[in-house]
Amino acid sequence: MPSKRKGIVLAGGYGTRLYPLTVAINKQLLPVYDKPMIYYPISVLMLAGIREILIIALPGDIPKYKNLLGDGSQYGINISYAEQKYPNGLAEALIIGEDFIAGDSVALVLGDNIFYGNDLQNILKSTNQKQEGATVFGYYVEKPQRFGVVEFDEKGKVLSITEKPKNPKSNYAIIGLYFYDNKAVEYAKSLNFSNRGELEITDLNKKYLDKGELDVKLLGRGFSWFDTGTIDALSDASEFIRIIQKRQSMIISALEEIGYNNNWITKEELLKAAKKYIKTPYGKYLEKVAHGDIINSQF
Ligand code: DAU
Repeated sequence: MPSKRKGIVLAGGYGTRLYPLTVAINKQLLPVYDKPMIYYPISVLMLAGIREILIIALPGDIPKYKNLLGDGSQYGINISYAEQKYPNGLAEALIIGEDFIAGDSVALVLGDNIFYGNDLQNILKSTNQKQEGATVFGYYVEKPQRFGVVEFDEKGKVLSITEKPKNPKSNYAIIGLYFYDNKAVEYAKSLNFSNRGELEITDLNKKYLDKGELDVKLLGRGFSWFDTGTIDALSDASEFIRIIQKRQSMIISALEEIGYNNNWITKEELLKAAKKYIKTPYGKYLEKVAHGDIINSQF
């Protein structure tokens, strides 16, 4: 019987590239159009079918996340919290999450990454089925220097992954969503700090690559991916969500809707959430979902 995958959202960091926005508010609490940024990565885990979720944040921010998300039962999930005292790097999330992961497989998503695309749910679900090795996702970007970058040979075989290379070997960035088997904690513990003083997720991925256990799935042009780490990217993401939601009369990453479609909450629970937010388009939308007025809302 395969173990159930756990999910981690890494929502720490000082967000210095967004100052002064993030002097008093943690980046992942900032709005991306009509909802807090962290809703988007949580929705990705939920769409994959993951219900046990750990949120890792700076100690001072944990009460704010608890205030926003509670224990997750309103979405039909189970949220717990852990502190990252200092931004020591993305791979530290696996070490902080060791007890939570408890020997299972795990998906890590960065709190400032937004994913949107046709067939996303199917891709996430099928990736979640794979129990062995690691799966990461490549996405074509204009400025690969800002990301982890993957190099392929002419047959598409992955040759290398490099963090923020000066001379990138391709335009494919590894985006902030990583599926690992139960060896991730052990591998993370064996990492050394990089030149910039972090436990790099790229180094963890390299461990899997060296052992021939890394799958890189490329997401095509039907996908949109945003890392909202800069002010322009944050503003672009808000604008993107606003336009798509308006055009489709649907709300992206409405957590109660995803919980309802997954049969994790009842219609009554959905209506309760709708009532809480009824002064907003978000609340009115949840009401429509409960009344069956949104067709195929999960696609
Ligand atoms: O967005 C994808 C990229 O994310 C990948 O392509 C890179 O390989 C990966 O290293 C990472 O690069 P960034 O430079 O964008 O990572 P950043 O330091 O901005 O951190 C990403 C998020 O994680 C951000 O919301 C803050 C949070 N964070 C970061 C660190 C280093 C933490 O919660 N704790 C940390 O220790």
